[in-house]
Amino acid sequence: MTNQADGFLSTKHLLGIKYIQKKDIELIFRTADEFKQVINRPIKKVPSLRDITIANLFFENSTRTKLSFELAEKRLSADVINFSAASSSVKKGETLLDTVNNILSMKVDMVVMRHPSPGAHFFLSKHIDANIINAGDGTHEHPTQALLDAFSMQEKLGNLSKKKIVIIGDIKHSRVALSNIFCLQKLGAEVKVCGPPTLIPKNIHHLGIGVEYDIDKALAWCDVANILRIQLERQDIKYIPSLREYAMFFGVNKERLDRLDKEIVIMHPGPINRGVEITSDVADSDHSIILQQVENGVAVRMAVLYLLANKRGNVLGN
Ligand code: CP
Repeated sequence: MTNQADGFLSTKHLLGIKYIQKKDIELIFRTADEFKQVINRPIKKVPSLRDITIANLFFENSTRTKLSFELAEKRLSADVINFSAASSSVKKGETLLDTVNNILSMKVDMVVMRHPSPGAHFFLSKHIDANIINAGDGTHEHPTQALLDAFSMQEKLGNLSKKKIVIIGDIKHSRVALSNIFCLQKLGAEVKVCGPPTLIPKNIHHLGIGVEYDIDKALAWCDVANILRIQLERQDIKYIPSLREYAMFFGVNKERLDRLDKEIVIMHPGPINRGVEITSDVADSDHSIILQQVENGVAVRMAVLYLLANKRGNVLGN
């Protein structure tokens, strides 16, 4: 790294986008720009976190976030240990704090955690000394997803001030939606959400965003459509009559995009339910930056890990 240290994050942990400032986001993006160059070099690894041990604690399923953090940590030369709740002693009744304290006593410096309970990271941050990074807490926040989404939008469109972003789908159960809203607002974008009324929280306008129930109007308004999946696993009652009906009224398909008099950027945090919230011809089209989001995820997570370690005074020169 060359000049990334021209600032420090204002926080010790990354618990949510709500708790960081615009200047933190800009610093993460500047640092991610540099790491993106690193991971596209023939030698993709730097020694920055050689003296740091990171525990990835996943109490919920993940493909992208888990692999992306692990790769980011390895590209930074950190020592990495992985924990999955399904094969752990959590099943025997151990508390979250006991589990984490046992792991920390193995001299772990940073914890990346996904947990089904909103606020689990905040609770831990009051009891342990390690840096905590939220990799998704229930329906609350998914800060690194929002950072990589905004970074990818900025790469495509430049400064996001006044850009129009619509988040479409199951807003009610989505941690990606809330983190995206906080992040995009801090960067000056205009944000709307769109979906069936049953999947949009009643008081969401208190966040200062627009609500649109007509998908065609939402697409006509926006520069970027960030499309979310229906989270059936979090729904204890039926919020929509059927996935087929959802696809008909809220699915983003080529016919809908062809009716627009402009091109819009298509995004999706994954995992995709092809044929439900997005059709394959849209997901795989030139307008889609879904795989760029995944690529940028590694650089953005490297930046977050690096900057939190830098604040501890624990990084090596590259
Ligand atoms: N976008 C995202 O969080 O995907 P995973 O659940 O696979 O990590």
